Amino acid sequence: MKHFLQLADFDRAEIEHLFERTRLIKDRFKNYVAYQPLADRMLAMVFEKSSTRTRVSFEAGIFQLGGASIVLNMGETQLGRGEPIEDVARVVSRMVDIVMIRTFEHSNIERFASQSRVPVINGLTNDYHPCQVLADIYTYAEHRGAIEGKVVAWVGDGNNMCNTWIQAARIFGFRLNIATPAGYGIDSARAAAAAGHIEIFADPMKAVEGAHLVNTDVWTSMGFEAEAAAREEAFRGFTVDRRLMSAARADALFMHCLPAHRGEEVSAEVLESPQSVVWEEAENRLHVQKALMEYLLLGRVET
Ligand code: CP
Ligand code: NVA
Repeated sequence: MKHFLQLADFDRAEIEHLFERTRLIKDRFKNYVAYQPLADRMLAMVFEKSSTRTRVSFEAGIFQLGGASIVLNMGETQLGRGEPIEDVARVVSRMVDIVMIRTFEHSNIERFASQSRVPVINGLTNDYHPCQVLADIYTYAEHRGAIEGKVVAWVGDGNNMCNTWIQAARIFGFRLNIATPAGYGIDSARAAAAAGHIEIFADPMKAVEGAHLVNTDVWTSMGFEAEAAAREEAFRGFTVDRRLMSAARADALFMHCLPAHRGEEVSAEVLESPQSVVWEEAENRLHVQKALMEYLLLGRVET
């Protein structure tokens, strides 16, 4: 049994397999061909933070595969009243076939997985957002082919998305240029583990120079709301706008996992520009996660 708690839980071959399955599953979906290998399977989704895309894509995805889902908002469960997460894992995983969790501390999902009888998927923690980066790299490939050897720029917060892109750089062999304001960078252990694949910049203009893909995310992630005012100050100059995009390659794509704040981390003009593939990224959450659930429950399916 495998879990998907961070991107690095899978090797390149497994992710390439997922992408092959994604292509097929997406194609069937677009052609109204039913594909229901997960009939009678139940997905439980535990949410400790808000969500639109993650909830809709997993709920629609498991249904389209023939299964069903149950949503557990932490505050409405016994978890919210202090039941140990390990006990909840032991109980819930006797009743369902697969679990998706969105929580704050990454250790919460590791604790759940340590006691789970069924596969656990990370639907975002403070440290990682692996389902989103799967969808993003799949989206890049749809538009531009393999990401190996390319230059990807990360502009903004050294957050869960950035950490996941760092893992992707090592797995896929591309260069990740990271520009963050002082005090909001990635931690040094993560930087050391990715040596040779990442480069750190203070100036976002330098980080996007020659980039095939420019990526950003909110300045204030969920759980850091108390820092919002200080962050707005610190991130001034890190907005991905037309001037910044013009330093990248002329055919560079723009990505953002959404939700976006126009006029903060990205200008409305860039978000709505032909270079922006943000809506495709969001849609591809559905397709890659269907391939992910198929893989975690059925292993390598070739049909
Ligand atoms: N990108 C993403 O995970 O969106 P939600 O927070 O809406 O799930
Ligand atoms: N970094 C953001 C991503 C939201 C999908 C957050 O954690 O809030």
